Amino acid sequence: MFPILVEQFKLTMAKLSWSLIAFVLLFNHCTNVKKEQTELPPADPHSFSMPDDARVKHLSWKATVDFENKVIRAVATWDIEHRPDADLIIFDTKGLDIKKVTSSEGNPLEFRLADADSLLGQALAVLISGDTKKVVIEYQTAPGAEALQWLSPEQTAGKKHPFLFTQSQAILARSWVPCQDSPAIRFTYDAEVQVPKELLALMSASNPQQRNDSGSYKFEMRQPIPSYLLALSVGDIAFKAVSDRSGVYAEPGVVEAAAWEFADLEKMIAGAEALYGKYAWDRYDVIVLPPSFPFGGMENPRLTFATPTLLAGDRSLTSVIAHELAHSWSGNLVTNGTWNDFWLNEGFTVYFEHRIIEALYGRDDAEMHALLALQDLKETITDMTASNHVDDTRLKLDLKGRNPDDAVTDIAYNKGYFFLRGIEEKYGRDKFDTFLRDYFSSHSFQSMNTDSFISTIRDYYSTKHSVTLPDTLFNSWIFTTGLPSDCPLPVATKFKVVDDALAAYGKDGRTLPSKVQWGTQEWLHFIKNLPEKLTPDQLSALDRFGKFTSSGNAEIVTAWLVIAIKNNYTPANEKLEHFLINTGRRKFLSPLYNALLKTPEGRERAIAIYRKARPNYHYVATSTFDATVR
Ligand code: BES
Ligand code: ZN
Repeated sequence: MFPILVEQFKLTMAKLSWSLIAFVLLFNHCTNVKKEQTELPPADPHSFSMPDDARVKHLSWKATVDFENKVIRAVATWDIEHRPDADLIIFDTKGLDIKKVTSSEGNPLEFRLADADSLLGQALAVLISGDTKKVVIEYQTAPGAEALQWLSPEQTAGKKHPFLFTQSQAILARSWVPCQDSPAIRFTYDAEVQVPKELLALMSASNPQQRNDSGSYKFEMRQPIPSYLLALSVGDIAFKAVSDRSGVYAEPGVVEAAAWEFADLEKMIAGAEALYGKYAWDRYDVIVLPPSFPFGGMENPRLTFATPTLLAGDRSLTSVIAHELAHSWSGNLVTNGTWNDFWLNEGFTVYFEHRIIEALYGRDDAEMHALLALQDLKETITDMTASNHVDDTRLKLDLKGRNPDDAVTDIAYNKGYFFLRGIEEKYGRDKFDTFLRDYFSSHSFQSMNTDSFISTIRDYYSTKHSVTLPDTLFNSWIFTTGLPSDCPLPVATKFKVVDDALAAYGKDGRTLPSKVQWGTQEWLHFIKNLPEKLTPDQLSALDRFGKFTSSGNAEIVTAWLVIAIKNNYTPANEKLEHFLINTGRRKFLSPLYNALLKTPEGRERAIAIYRKARPNYHYVATSTFDATVR
């Protein structure tokens, strides 16, 4: 701070009551001090908390879930640690109605809520003294709390009971729990949640497997986690075991299909452990949510949240489960320090995911996934470059003042993946595997940022492997836009027959194989490499060949509908509308709405469909499409 400001500040302080001083201090801290901390490790630009002064250690959460009013009423008791001279602890909140803040003895603690920032919400500053060990916050969530999606019975599979699920990543936990909402701050938690008697509650913690008659459920998470892994799901939910330590939750009408689809859960866990070390979270369960869940999966510890679009009926889309399981190491054990380092979470996880697929289903399968990923990545880089987002094609991002959601692109996932795969290929798989095993064990329950990753891997390769990793490797992949020329090239031998079919079709626009035995990956490769322009006759012939419009596989349907939109294939119109209304997974919605938005007529259609579909979407999806579909 400038000296003159300090003087002014002191003068003003003399005139103010002590609580107001704290408030002013808070702003001073949040706006000026943070910006000038150059020698300290970079602060998290998406959290108001100042963990070096005072930080949370444990959460005891007592909550009542009120479906009628669509709110959660709760008391969050935080165990905290702080510097002896710290006079404030700062939490992140968004839309929370703070009723009261007390010490563990019930004595009121002075607190202030700062002005709301539309992205980050409101800092909650609580005055503490040297001996404050707990802060008890009584509050209620806002009806539109961004992390929460309240589903009516009609929006569920069973149609009888309402449903609630949370999505905290990246910075939405603050909309349902006052917390230090930064991925670098970890805490353990326990919870007691009251829900309507007909419903079961589950969290990212130890979980019940059955409903009880009281509607009250207790949870415990003994391993320290960051706030973005806080999760809750409430509904008419059944459980089916897959192995001693894994199983599937879903609505009763879905649970059998889910258990069948994910029958390989135990093999995946064992395969992952054989690669990179012991699973650290005891149980691994998956809950299949109603269709509005905005992601393919979310790695909530002990309980992955998953979209029902994975239930293709042929186990062909379970790589998403391998991905979420892999996060149990990359992300949940070793966590990105800020959302600028998001590629550390996702790039490592995609790499690990591919290794699980290879271990379970063979190299050929893994290489099909990898080649599809490379094609997607190249398209993403072309699109981002054309639309003025070329700066975001670096792995390391600068998202200060921006929504961390902007980091959720193929760059973090697939550029991150190919970077790591390149290191594996250049210096040997053995070396990379020993590095990764050590990386996960020596940094477990800690955060990692891009710079600390670079020095960690450099030191490791030089001391343990006597290999000097060159500057250019890191510069070209992490700090440079676009795709480096040394990008690995997957060899997908199983695509040979598909490429042959595509070549034959490319020649006369009509020759198609009479019979094929292709899996989902082959079909996707086929659809994604069809000629740009197709006539209505060609489209009907292709549709007869692959039965795309009537497919129950959401990946295939999406790839096909993009082509249908571009070429005005009207027989797919009904399917498109139905799919957009009944699917909430953003990865599918985005290419479809984007394809529609390319023409004026398409835009009109998009707006009309979006009007009907929007009530079914989670905030994560509406916040994306409200900005574009209009
Ligand atoms: N952690 C992500 C989902 C996420 C990222 C939510 C950022 C909010 C902010 C999850 O692990 C994920 O990557 N899901 C993918 C799975 C796919 C890459 C296999 C998805 O939802 O499509
Ligand atoms: Zn992920």
